[in-house]
Amino acid sequence: MTRSSKTIVLLPGDGIGPEVISAAVAVLSDCAAEFGHRWDFAEFSFGGIAIDRCGSPLPAETLAACQSADAILLGAVGGPRWDSLPLDRRPEAGLLAIRRKLGLWANLRPVVLREPLRDVSPLRPDRAPRINFEIVRELAGGIYFGEHALERTNGFEVARDVETYSTPEIERIARFAFDRAIARSGRLVSVDKANILAASALWRQTVSRLASDYPGVSLSHLYVDNAAMQLILDPAQFDVLLTTNMFGDILSDEAAALVGSIGLMPSMSCGQGTPLFEPIHGSAPSLAGRDLANPIGAILCASLLLREAFGLPEEAAWIEAALDAVLDAGYRTPDLAGTASPVGDASFVDTASSVGATFSDGRDTSRGGAFCVGNAFTVGCSTFVAQLRTRLREPLPQLERYGWGV
Ligand code: NAD
Ligand code: IPM
Ligand code: MN
Repeated sequence: MTRSSKTIVLLPGDGIGPEVISAAVAVLSDCAAEFGHRWDFAEFSFGGIAIDRCGSPLPAETLAACQSADAILLGAVGGPRWDSLPLDRRPEAGLLAIRRKLGLWANLRPVVLREPLRDVSPLRPDRAPRINFEIVRELAGGIYFGEHALERTNGFEVARDVETYSTPEIERIARFAFDRAIARSGRLVSVDKANILAASALWRQTVSRLASDYPGVSLSHLYVDNAAMQLILDPAQFDVLLTTNMFGDILSDEAAALVGSIGLMPSMSCGQGTPLFEPIHGSAPSLAGRDLANPIGAILCASLLLREAFGLPEEAAWIEAALDAVLDAGYRTPDLAGTASPVGDASFVDTASSVGATFSDGRDTSRGGAFCVGNAFTVGCSTFVAQLRTRLREPLPQLERYGWGV
């Protein structure tokens, strides 16, 4: 019997987008088979590839499909091929357009240092006892959506970008963050630049006013410069971090570095329309087509989608448990490898066809010809995903781990 039947629109986009989305789709398909669900995937052009094919980064057909889907899975957009276009016609403009047209005003970015990756964090272990928090980024306002202008005045050019926030815009994202904090440990830190910016002063005043509606949440405020420092000095102090569109963009890449790689970070954008899931990284042009991308951010988008959009927490936990098992076994894409990793050299990615020998350069053919650094093995994206799918097909250890079916 089909338990859940949903339509998922795929927007692979540019660069490494298609590689990481195909990893997420493989895992979602395994999940459907295992749990008796049905996902109908429909792929559409978006970003640079859509500019090439249709002249627009967000073609009308793509937007219509997104509007009628149950969820959207997006890879990444952009690349040098489109960098000389005017700002409002670039692939990245398609990203802002889809967020605006679907009314996606909240962006959730979970930041989790996974246990097997403890040694990958650049922080000393005593500085990173536990990193597990959520960034709530406002996604439909602020400087991204204010006036952008370039003028010629007195013989030279002047450009401006305007940061605007209204009380209702701040209230809806703040309530979203208060609710996330209630569901977690009840600690909310709001990040702004209220000592300088009018929009930030309104932000702080509005967030503070709402606090009395959430007696179970302890609210504090940080200026963004201090927040950037606190993330490195003591990331364990954060539970939910609420901030504006631009500060959230910047702090989330910093947070990604804390947990080991930007390739690990998923996100959910939601609000009025169809929820959209995308890894926070970009199209990583130098990695594209070389089987070097870390697919974990996209795979965690799949589990986030199942948990948050489809209400399927067991399925999400099933994927994450298998992922941790593969990391436990030592498999790493190059971005997660130690200094001996052959980053930028695809030649290490052998097929798993030869088994048994260990090469003198450290490659262990029983692990798919990967480089060996300590207990970790550097493999390509496709080998990593193959390992994950093998784990997903081993039901027993995971049933025991979660106590299901016994
Ligand atoms: P980027 O995230 O593409 O890359 C930053 C660094 O992280 C690079 O060193 C890259 O190799 C590495 N990296 C990124 N994803 C990785 C992964 N999955 N596995 C391993 N390493 C990974 O950011 P950038 O270089 O500033 O931008 C490249 C292009 O992507 C630009 O056109 C930019 O506008 C676009 N971009 C798109 C999105 C999006 O689609 N959501 C997000 C950010 C940047
Ligand atoms: C992100 C990206 C986008 C953003 C860009 C590509 C428009 O950096 O999703 O983090 O700034 O929102
Ligand atoms: Mn970003």
